[in-house]
Amino acid sequence: MPVDRLQPLLEQQLQSLSADQRRKGFEHVVTGRIAADGGRGPRYQLAGLPQPFLRMNSNSYLGLATHPRLVAAAEAAVARFGVGPGAVRFISGTLEPHVRLEARLGAFHGREAAMLFSSAYATVLSVIASLVTPETAVVSDELNHNCIINAIRLVRPKAKVVYRHLDLAGLDDALRQAAAADCRRALVVTDGVFSMRGAIAPLDAIREVVLRHDAAFAENVVLLVDDSHGVGALGATGRGSEEQTGAQADLLIGTLGKAFGANGGYVVGPQVLIDSLRETSPMYIYSNPITPGEASAARAAVEIVDSAEGQALLGHLRDLTGRFRDGLRRQGRETLAGAHPVVPLFVRDAARTAAIVRGLFEQGILATAILYPVVPRGDESIRFQVSAEHTAGDIDEVLAALARLA
Ligand SMILES: Cc1ncc(COP(=O)(O)O)c(C=O)c1O
Repeated sequence: MPVDRLQPLLEQQLQSLSADQRRKGFEHVVTGRIAADGGRGPRYQLAGLPQPFLRMNSNSYLGLATHPRLVAAAEAAVARFGVGPGAVRFISGTLEPHVRLEARLGAFHGREAAMLFSSAYATVLSVIASLVTPETAVVSDELNHNCIINAIRLVRPKAKVVYRHLDLAGLDDALRQAAAADCRRALVVTDGVFSMRGAIAPLDAIREVVLRHDAAFAENVVLLVDDSHGVGALGATGRGSEEQTGAQADLLIGTLGKAFGANGGYVVGPQVLIDSLRETSPMYIYSNPITPGEASAARAAVEIVDSAEGQALLGHLRDLTGRFRDGLRRQGRETLAGAHPVVPLFVRDAARTAAIVRGLFEQGILATAILYPVVPRGDESIRFQVSAEHTAGDIDEVLAALARLA
């Protein structure tokens, strides 16, 4: 067998992940959705299990994934254009839904231009690959998402400095080091919302540090923000961490697959930067765009977020998030203050975290254990994600289930 020497190594790797309780292992298969009913939000059916589940671990923060307007938009686009793009954008894969969505996203974020990718992960990889030259320094928050970490590994910057999580003095220092290394360009990259704990990057303060150092670089300090968890979930009108902090990135990356309920990724920014990215971004040039159905559904989602209905959904999401955080505090549980619907419950022990998640599961509630190496040992927590599809009764049900596990 050609893999006979590789196979035992891989088996050993899997066993050691299991022994460390780090193996993702078995994936539950969602087989159905029971619609919201009165005081209960929707419930989800899992293969082989009789009881329905309340999903506290979905990124569909506004509950738009099953919204009738998105479903109808996707169906209409499929009927018109088929299910796939059939080619990459510059060959013959640019369809009307792509162009209309890009225009809508640019306007939504108050930017000159927008550009779609197959996912936010691909957007980050591709934008960083395009922007980083051999004369560039990349400066990155230590808790940035895996896509940023991998993007930086793929490119070969002249300098790479990772600063401590949200540490502005560290960022300041990192830019000083980059200037001293004679880099012509610097790229500061941060998550807008850090997905494990819902922490929000202080973009206003980060922007100030960036401006302070800009003159030291011949080709500027570019601020790149990945706000995949912020857009649609945060800010008075759902514009994410930019709206929450009152500052703008030079390039903002978002996903269509979380609050917008569809699938895909995008970047918005000045026209010349987007034009340049279209010429140089590998995941744009050599990889299919999202499907016409996804693009049309996503445009419907942006329109909903930008309407009175979106305002109502955001208000409901904020109320439920507040209710959940208050409930955790009343139980004496450790959480973080904040406005984002990612609500962490710190357990600070891997085995106890897994036991609570199991206990919730047995009571029909899906939540996610966040364990090492995603977070440092001692920071083990449970991530709850509140959604506008939940009801106050759902939130109380989760709190009651937790109380039973105290
Ligand atoms: C900060 C951040 N960026 C990117 C992604 C990936 O998004 P997508 O599924 O659109 O690739 C995620 C998803 O978890 C994320 O949290």
